[in-house]
Amino acid sequence: MNVVMVGTGYAGLVSGLGYAKLGHRVACVDTDASKIARLDLGDVPFYEPGLPELLRDMQEAGRVVFTTDLAQVIDGSDVVMLAVGTPPRPTGEADLRYVFQAADEVGACLGHEALLVVKSTVPVGTNRRVLSHVREAMTATGRGELAPLIQVASLPEFLSEGRALADFFAPSRIVIGAEDPVAHDLLERLHAGVSAPLILTTLETAELTKYAANAFLATKVSFINEIAHVAERVGADVRTLAKAIGMDPRIGPSFLQAGIGYGGSCFPKDVSALHQLAGYNGYDFKLLSAAIEVNNRQRDLFLRGAEDVLGGFQGRRIAVWGLAFKPRTDDVRESAAIDIVQRTFARGAEVAVYDPKAMGRARSVLGDRVEYAPTAMDAASGADALFLLTDWPEFREVSFDTLREGMMSPLIFDGRNLLADLRLRDRGFTYYGVGTNG
Ligand SMILES: NC(=O)c1ccc[n+]([C@@H]2O[C@H](COP(=O)([O-])OP(=O)(O)OC[C@H]3O[C@@H](n4cnc5c(N)ncnc54)[C@H](O)[C@@H]3O)[C@@H](O)[C@H]2O)c1
Repeated sequence: MNVVMVGTGYAGLVSGLGYAKLGHRVACVDTDASKIARLDLGDVPFYEPGLPELLRDMQEAGRVVFTTDLAQVIDGSDVVMLAVGTPPRPTGEADLRYVFQAADEVGACLGHEALLVVKSTVPVGTNRRVLSHVREAMTATGRGELAPLIQVASLPEFLSEGRALADFFAPSRIVIGAEDPVAHDLLERLHAGVSAPLILTTLETAELTKYAANAFLATKVSFINEIAHVAERVGADVRTLAKAIGMDPRIGPSFLQAGIGYGGSCFPKDVSALHQLAGYNGYDFKLLSAAIEVNNRQRDLFLRGAEDVLGGFQGRRIAVWGLAFKPRTDDVRESAAIDIVQRTFARGAEVAVYDPKAMGRARSVLGDRVEYAPTAMDAASGADALFLLTDWPEFREVSFDTLREGMMSPLIFDGRNLLADLRLRDRGFTYYGVGTNG
């Protein structure tokens, strides 16, 4: 099949290269000319394991092209997929301007029957509006007679950054929302070679499924964080507790790590968007309000705890390990770590940061207000305290003796409980985890 992927960010590029690997011919389109230029040269503009190798293979096989010119590649396409961003608006609802802009651009140059597929995470009702945009743009540019031939389908993306390719080729499920069985069939064929259960459903169910999945996982994170506070107060250990409850298949072990809370480009915006969507439809989704409130409070409590122990941040040197919103990605969007760095700095601390992959992206958010250390040890050198904010496994591998000797005072606030089982108190550190007596 011929696939046009509009938007080559984390979701669009992974999927575009994934479809190429499945044997389709893929044209990846983006308005960001510098991104397209880099991709054309075989350079992935963000960190995602395995993606540079797949890009090289697909370019060598001649199955993928990159362009800023949608009109140049749209002819002959069977599927036109939108994977543009849907960032949050200040009110919490999804900002759909990129989606509708892309739909208008598609409609302005589409001259044949094709299936329009929305991969971006969008509120219920958006797919139908996208179809209207495309059809109206076709009519406005003199191709109205073709407009009824265009159909829309919702194909929510469930990939997780850091393991995105594994998720593409072996997803837990593929959800396809469409009105027309022909669209279901076409997308089923597009995914031939991917072994996963297919859920064929309506547009609305597919759209809501994506939000429900992320909202559930975010709620799970907030739940274990609430338990962590109870555990701290009663002398229990949240990590052992999480392991024990996670063994129950009705609960499952994922997203039960207590810490400074969720962040990233999806959970915060999707939880807020679902909360807004419910509100607009006359329903007060109380559980989500609480999940959001608990998540925000985790950061407040972490900072308050550190501030109390240090007697204030003014003039203190704080080392920060981890800036990405989670390990194995360079994505810092809505990262809890970035928020904590900004607030620590704002309260008068001198902050030295280190992240294995996210330094470049963090710099574009944090600017010159913090010191960017070349290694984790350099960041910690002379520090009054170390904040561990992203659970990169390599932070467990450092020499803790060297770390202790290099710090001004051996004080660790572990916002991810990554080091909780290393008995750091026995090794001369003052160690604080989240809900743990480690
Ligand atoms: N990142 C993830 O892990 C992930 C996972 C599941 C779902 N999603 C969803 O996928 C969507 C995209 O997310 P992302 O993280 O890939 O975003 P992103 O910001 O990394 O990428 C979006 C891309 O779209 C491009 N773009 C914007 N308008 C365009 C237009 N008119 N024509 C062509 N390109 C255009 C931007 O330049 C950018 O490169 C969002 O709705 C997100 O919620 C993302």
